[in-house]
Amino acid sequence: MSTRHGIDWNKAQALFKAERETFAAQRRRSRELSRQAAEHLAFGVPLHWMNDWSTPFSLYVDRAKGARFRDVDGFDYTDFCLGDTGAMFGHAPAPVARALTEQGTKGLTAMLPSEDAVWVSRELARRFGLPFWQFAMTATDANRFVLRWARAATGRSKVLVFNGCYHGTVDDVFVDLVDGRPRQRDSLLGQVYDLTQHTRVVEFNHLEALEAALADGEVACVLAEPAMTNIGMVLPEPGYWEAAQAIIRRHGTLLVIDETHTISTGPGGYTRAHGLAPDAFVLGKPIGGGVPCAVYGFSAELAERVQAAKRNAPPGHSGVGTTLTANLLAMAAMRATLAEVMTEAAYAHMFALAERLAEGLRSVIERRGVPWCVTQVGARTEFQFSPAPPRNGSEAECILDSELEHVIHLYLLNRGLLITPFHNMILVCPDTTASDVDRLIAAFDEVLAAIV
Ligand SMILES: Cc1ncc(COP(=O)(O)O)c(C=O)c1O
Repeated sequence: MSTRHGIDWNKAQALFKAERETFAAQRRRSRELSRQAAEHLAFGVPLHWMNDWSTPFSLYVDRAKGARFRDVDGFDYTDFCLGDTGAMFGHAPAPVARALTEQGTKGLTAMLPSEDAVWVSRELARRFGLPFWQFAMTATDANRFVLRWARAATGRSKVLVFNGCYHGTVDDVFVDLVDGRPRQRDSLLGQVYDLTQHTRVVEFNHLEALEAALADGEVACVLAEPAMTNIGMVLPEPGYWEAAQAIIRRHGTLLVIDETHTISTGPGGYTRAHGLAPDAFVLGKPIGGGVPCAVYGFSAELAERVQAAKRNAPPGHSGVGTTLTANLLAMAAMRATLAEVMTEAAYAHMFALAERLAEGLRSVIERRGVPWCVTQVGARTEFQFSPAPPRNGSEAECILDSELEHVIHLYLLNRGLLITPFHNMILVCPDTTASDVDRLIAAFDEVLAAIV
């Protein structure tokens, strides 16, 4: 018998084959749309990532609302992927839908601010504790712009990231640690510059490595998720951020905290919940309730330096901004999301369900005797194929197994339960119910029973 992460791999492969056949037989309309899409869409999908699911062809959505969506063949799903965080507070939240309808009659984009800009920036300052804000269309853009501002403000060229990080398609961060040395990620397409010239990379939770990488004073900023979520989850060890922040500060380096996923920790993100004091703060994905937009904030001191950098630069393009950034529609969506959707009450509901989910998954793992664990960042839960949570990106990478993930994901999907296609991330939203969670736990138990 060939085993893998405690699983009988022959059984898993047989199950996967059967599940693919079931999916294909039942989803006639999705199959037909996939066939038509292949005529004019490169890769057969609007974004090539959409081929990364476990399904043999793309699942087409008819409508999505709250914690649920329906596909074009009429099958209903409870969504624990939630657009990989873009719909973390549920699909089409009513206050956002209302704001979009209203703003839709009042103008969509003007390259001028509306009153919402004032309300939103005031709320961002109150909620996240940083006094000055700017906007972007995506978290990728926000990170890209913050790196540019950090370099401009400090006059330093280098940035530091943690091994295994993801901050969007920001070229600078695609540098891995391979055998202890920085190496540009092989999968990165069309990049002709040597990124290792200006990007340093160290393991998360390794204070000595951080200290050594910052010691020469050439690093403009550390760009980090406060808990890593994109290579499986890697949580900071107790006291890590306190010590890391002191090191970063001592070397005159800026700390940029990217909360795009860790906003699952609470209404003020991990930053507020754990008393971090970043110089800059980034949040994209769910901030507009699913409408493309992102925000980034500066401390008072960094805002001053950033504005001085712009003031002192020659006139012309700064390299920061896109035409539709902070458009009227996005601002209305952010206002509605911040005012009525990302509330304390919504988080309280999500935390209780995430706790129920984590406990349920842990008890299944124990009962089925697989060497797996469950890791959590607030409303974000993940099961990982190792007995204890990984402590850094290298450890996390070693336990990823996309083939095994696909077996589990497709089994769940065929039973109306969708989880994130990348590793095993599971989100609950304000519309998720306890019985949704219980169904997911029961199906997880069934799939393990079938392949252990
Ligand atoms: C932490 C983090 N930052 C930034 C991004 C980029 O977000 P987007 O793809 O919406 O630009 C992601 C996407 O997964 C992310 O996880």
